[in-house]
Order: sequence, then structure tokens, then C-alpha cells
Amino acid sequence: TTNQSWGGRFSEPTDAFVAAFTASIGFDQRLYHHDIRGSIAHATMLARVGVLTDDERDAIVDGLTQIEAEIERGEIEWSVALEDIHMNIEARLTDRIGIVGKKLHTGRSRNDQIATDIRLYLRDGIDAVAGELSRLRQGLIELAEREADTIMPGFTHLQSAQPVTFGHHLLAWQEMIARDQERLLDARKRVNIMPLGAAALAGTTYPIDRHVTAELLGFERPAENSLDAVSDRDFAIEFTAFASLLMMHLSRMSEELVLWTSAQFDFIDLPDRFCTGSSIMPQKKNPDVPELVRGKTGRVYGHMMSLLTLMKSQPLAYNKDNQEDKEPLFDTLDTVLGSLRAFGDMIPAVRAKSDNMYAAAKRGFATATDLADYLVRQGVAFRDAHEIVGKAVAFGIEEGRDLSEMTLEELKRFSSYINDDIFDYLTLEGSVAARNHIGGTAPDQVRAAAQRAREALTRL
Ligand code: ARG
Repeated sequence: TTNQSWGGRFSEPTDAFVAAFTASIGFDQRLYHHDIRGSIAHATMLARVGVLTDDERDAIVDGLTQIEAEIERGEIEWSVALEDIHMNIEARLTDRIGIVGKKLHTGRSRNDQIATDIRLYLRDGIDAVAGELSRLRQGLIELAEREADTIMPGFTHLQSAQPVTFGHHLLAWQEMIARDQERLLDARKRVNIMPLGAAALAGTTYPIDRHVTAELLGFERPAENSLDAVSDRDFAIEFTAFASLLMMHLSRMSEELVLWTSAQFDFIDLPDRFCTGSSIMPQKKNPDVPELVRGKTGRVYGHMMSLLTLMKSQPLAYNKDNQEDKEPLFDTLDTVLGSLRAFGDMIPAVRAKSDNMYAAAKRGFATATDLADYLVRQGVAFRDAHEIVGKAVAFGIEEGRDLSEMTLEELKRFSSYINDDIFDYLTLEGSVAARNHIGGTAPDQVRAAAQRAREALTRL
């Protein structure tokens, strides 16, 4: 038999391989809830404008509600012959309520239906992702407040550069995630536009009221142009672009967590529940969660490239190509949600090994810049100060001692401008406390920044 939804003009059934090759039910079944929601809104609107009777609408809404329950109980067997989620549900509806079920598709096409489903689904996905982002930011802010006074080496080129507070480092992460959340919420505005009513591509001859449907579905407004509404997937690409930047950030955080848990750094402890062991090396405790998040970044970048390439050069309006939008988008959502969930659970459980951080900050002459700044305040030109401190560092390397571990007499050999107050600046505490301005690493600034970050979070 030819396909019951569109087989009228066909004289032979679809080739079995072609049916399987073109079917999307294998992956679009996860849209069932949003597909049904869209159909209920569409039927409600059709009754409102008199295209369906109230009885017909009630039969359709009842039928769809029961089908959703059946799906949730796992009672529906998806049919590849019925291609996709739309026709599977519609066929089930007609089985259930008879001829009236066939009226649901009045004034609608699968083209505007699928575009609507994806937007509804993605909108819910975005809200879930936004919730996880808030939770992660909260965790980072709380940890930063706990570690506002904890001193660690700050790095450039992964070489010890200047001391910073661990809280300051954590708030840098928080800023990165806050920008990601801003990007996400901005993209949401362009997701929340309703394609329904565009029908196949040109609109429909029925007296539909798209404002009613848009309101029922919580969309900001109906899409302005029917050709654009059914064809573009820029909103999905935007989401994967957001996701790529987020994963890039998570991968950087992951990389640092992996480094810091190594025996060579030994800056933090990750609880056992976020790690796994080795089947051969009994001593191992591997930071699998951050490693895996770092690794998953690649597939999200790949999905963004897939979607960009999918849409490249497509003529208006709908093309079957667009069916390929779903798997990359779904996997991006799953990956981002999973990675954020892991991070949201893990960050509050990070324990700083502050003694190790402190000892590491003392190695590597992290207060050399402070000594140079001190000399500049005494009237030495910065370039000369740089040279003087360079010599002091060379001496320290030879002697195996930090600047703060030299005597005043030794220091004075490099410059007569050095007095006994120098030790207030050469200590790690003095160094961080001196960077006392907005955006600086001083513990008081970290506490103030954490407070501002908290407020920004509640304003979302
Ligand atoms: N399964 C299709 C998709 O995912 C639904 C729209 C099909 N429309 C069509 N004219 N074949 O895009």
C-alpha cells in the first residue's frame, strides 16, 4: 500500500530501504510532547475561528491527551512506515477517534509543524540549561567566598607569574559562565517565535488566527514571513554556537582541575565520587569527570559545524535536508546538560589544599613585580627597577631562596632604595592585598565581587 498521508498520487509503495532511509521517527520521537502540545493549540485555534466545531476540537484534544499518556506508558510502537513523529501521532489519533482525527491537519503542514516542535522543544531545553548555569554560578560564587583569602600562584604561560587568591580565580570562571548565560538568554528571544500558520511555505487559505496559537503556546509572536518561518534553522545554530563557547569554557576549567589534582600540582582534592580508579594501577584516582567534559567539547563544536554546513546554500523554503537538524541539536542539548550537571555537582565539592597552593606561590618569585613596583614608588624608573629585580631573582635562584627569604642587607646590595618596609610587599599576603581595586585579586575585592555576582544572579 502507498503511504496513507500522502500516497494519493503514487502508484507504487515506497521502496523499503528508502522508507527506512528517509524516516526520522528513530530520533524525532523525543518531540512527542511538544508535537502534541502544538497540535492541541492548533485545534483549539481552529475551533476558535470556526474551522472545527467545538465537539471536533474536544475529540481531538481528548484523543491527543490519551495518546500522550500511552506514549509515556511506553505503549506506542513507532512505525517507520509512518516516517516521523507527526504522522505516527496523527495515525494513532485517527485509529482512536476516527475520521475527525483527519481534520487536525487542516491549515497546517509538517513543515510549519516541525519548525514549531523544535522551537518548543529547544525553548524548554534552554530553560533547563539556564537553570543549570545558575546553579553552577551559585556554586562558584560560594566556593570563591570560602576561598577569598586562599593564596595560590597565578600563571601566565603556565609559569608562576604573580600570586592571586583562589577565590579570584574561581570568580574568573564565574564571569565566563555568566557571559554564556547572557548569550543563551539572548538567543532564546529568537527561538521563541512561532512558525505555525506558515503551513507548507506560503501560508494557508483558512481564516486562522496566529496570535491565538502563539499565545496558547507561549510564543512571543508569530513569525513574520511564512517562507522564512519554515526554512531557517539559524536559531538552532545560535544555540550550538552558545554551546560551543560554553564547552570551550568548561574545557578550560576542566583542564585546570585535571592539572590541580595531579601529584605535581596537588592544589585541590576532588571527592572520590567524581573520580574513577585504574584496573591495573592500584594507586590511581583519575579525574574522569573533568576529562570527559573536556573531551565532549569536540562533539559540540562538530555539531555547530554540521548545522552551519547543513543550512549553507539551501534555497527557500523547506528542504528535506532540514530533517538533519535534529540529531546535532539534540546531542548538543544532552551534552551541555550532562556536562553542566556534572560541574554543578562537582564544584561545591572541590576542596582547596591551601598549604600546597601557598607553598607553590612562594616558589617561582611570584612577588618580583611587587619589588619592582616598590622601587618605582621610591623614584626608580620602571625599566631600571626591572633590571635590579632581575639580578635579585638570579641571586635567589642560585641560593635557592625566595625574595622574601633574603635579608635586608642582601636586598640592599641590589638597590640602596630598599628599606626594611620592603617585607610588607614581598610577602604573598602583602602582594595580593595591594591589588585592591575593582577587578583586582585582593581578598576584600573578591568578597565584594562575589556579592555583586550574587546580585547579578538574582536579577536574572
Ligand atoms: N521529518 C521532517 C523533518 O524533520 C518533518 C517535515 C517533513 N516535511 C516534508 N515535507 N517532508 O523535517
